[in-house]
Amino acid sequence: MSPAATLTRLAQRLELALLRTGPGLTASLRFRGRHHVRTETEFLDLYGRLLADRVLIQSLNEAFNLWDLARQTAPLHGSVAEFGVYKGGSARLLCAVKESRPLHLFDTFGELGGMPETRPDIDTSHRAGDFSDSRLPEVRALLAGQPEVRIHAGLFPGTAAGLEDVRFSFVHLDVDIYQSTLDGLRFFYPRLLPGGMLVSHDYSYLPTPGVKRAFDEYFADDPQPVIRLWDTQCLVVKPR
Ligand SMILES: C[S@@+](CC[C@H](N)C(=O)[O-])C[C@H]1O[C@@H](n2cnc3c(N)ncnc32)[C@H](O)[C@@H]1O
Repeated sequence: MSPAATLTRLAQRLELALLRTGPGLTASLRFRGRHHVRTETEFLDLYGRLLADRVLIQSLNEAFNLWDLARQTAPLHGSVAEFGVYKGGSARLLCAVKESRPLHLFDTFGELGGMPETRPDIDTSHRAGDFSDSRLPEVRALLAGQPEVRIHAGLFPGTAAGLEDVRFSFVHLDVDIYQSTLDGLRFFYPRLLPGGMLVSHDYSYLPTPGVKRAFDEYFADDPQPVIRLWDTQCLVVKPR
C-alpha cells in the first residue's frame, strides 16, 4: 500500500474514532457529531469492521449514503444490484439493508484480469488489469450467510444476459471508467422501478472523468436530474 493510501486509511479510522468518541474536536467533525449518523450504531459497527478488513473503498459519507438510500427503496421490492464489487465491502453494506430483496453482484472479481480495457483519452487514472487482487472465494466468504445474493462473475454486460426481465429498486454503480459506466446505465436505468434509485461512485471524482462523461452522454436525449452527493457520488431517482 502506498504511503498516501496508508495515510488515507489512518485518517478514515481517526475520523470514525473521533465521530464516536470526540466529535467536538474539529470543526467538521463537530457538525457531523450532531448528525443522525451517530445514532446508526449498526452502520458504524459494520463500516468499522469493513475498513479494518480492508474490503471497502467508500468514505464514511459515501458508505452511509448507500446504506440510507438503499434502505429507503426497500418498500418498492424489486431487486438490488451492484456493478463494481471488488472485495465486497459495499456489497456487504447493501446486504444489511436490502431486507428480502435479491442482490445481484457483477464484477470480474479479478478472474478475467480485473478492470477491462479503458479509454486512455478519458479514463485518465485507470488501466486494464487494475483491481485484479479481488478473489471470488474471499468475496463469497465475506457475504456468507447473507440471503439471496447472486454473483455474476465475468465481464459486464455479458454477465447480465438472461436478466433482461429483472426489475431493480436500487442500483449501485462503482466501476470507475467510461465504457463500464455507460454499459451499466444502458442496462440498469431502463429496468429501474418508478421511485427506484441509482447511485454511482466517482461522479465528482476528478481522476475518473469517464464516469461523469458517461452520465452526461446517457442522459443527453432524456434529461433527468443527476443529483450530486458528497463525497463523490451522484443519485438519479426514476420518475414515478
Ligand atoms: C472501484 S472497484 C469497486 C469497489 C467496491 N464497490 C467497494 O466499494 O469496495 C471497481 C470494480 O469494477 C470492476 N469492473 C469495472 N468494469 C467492469 C466490467 N465491464 N465487468 C466486470 N467488472 C468490471 C473492476 O473489476 C473492479 O473490481
